[in-house]
Amino acid sequence: MNRRYRKTIIAGNWKMNNTLSQTKTFAEEIKPIMPKGKWCNVVLCVPATNIQSAVRLFKDCHIAIGAETCHELDHGAYTGEITAAMIKEAGAKYVIIGHSERRQYYNETDFTVNKKVHAAIEAGLIPIICVGESLEQRELGVTMELIAYQVKCALADVAPEKVRHIVIAYEPLWAIGTGKTATAEQAGEVCQAIRTVIRKQYGAHVARSVTIQYGGSMNAKNAEELLAQPDVDGGLIGGAALKPADFVKIIEAANQE
Ligand code: 13P
Repeated sequence: MNRRYRKTIIAGNWKMNNTLSQTKTFAEEIKPIMPKGKWCNVVLCVPATNIQSAVRLFKDCHIAIGAETCHELDHGAYTGEITAAMIKEAGAKYVIIGHSERRQYYNETDFTVNKKVHAAIEAGLIPIICVGESLEQRELGVTMELIAYQVKCALADVAPEKVRHIVIAYEPLWAIGTGKTATAEQAGEVCQAIRTVIRKQYGAHVARSVTIQYGGSMNAKNAEELLAQPDVDGGLIGGAALKPADFVKIIEAANQE
């Protein structure tokens, strides 16, 4: 973390979990234990049906709400899809874009990720852009090239003053939902490389403002070590964000002096 130049953001990604009533229960449970000292921003990215209620439910405890994806266009005949403007009007501040599960199961590509990033920014949402390599790619030794390519594609034609406010989440595919976390060194190394890519494209001023998260089996036990890396500015948390007590422990790790 480096709080001097950029925000630390702990974000939960609920994926396809939690109905509205379960969301209410979660809010009731987290409210009394939510840390008061606030160094870090806290976000919950929830299923689209819960966004509007979640904005209201989590307002008191200063948790911002995000969506888990959006469509790249602003309207049209795309049954089942939702636009960035719809998400914004529902009260969300963030939207996850290009999560590996979207890339894997819904054919999202670096090209569509870029279009969605533009759509999110246009609507006034902060995109949390996910990048990450598979185990095969890591073993082949192409992690850094791949991540650089993903970051460059995602940010193509995005103005520097907009890039300053985006969030990038480094989520190695082999660490998602597996209980196998990247070591703090691995996470730190890739997050640093992401910042270098941004610096080369947009300059030092922009690069140092961008929040870069780590995601992949981050939990109450390993959060502190991961967040101690200078270029790891927060986490994108799946499983541990479904349990209020675990999520709070991660927030506490990010709140430490
Ligand atoms: P887990 O924390 O469950 O590994 O999920 C990470 C993730 O995919 C967050 O977007």
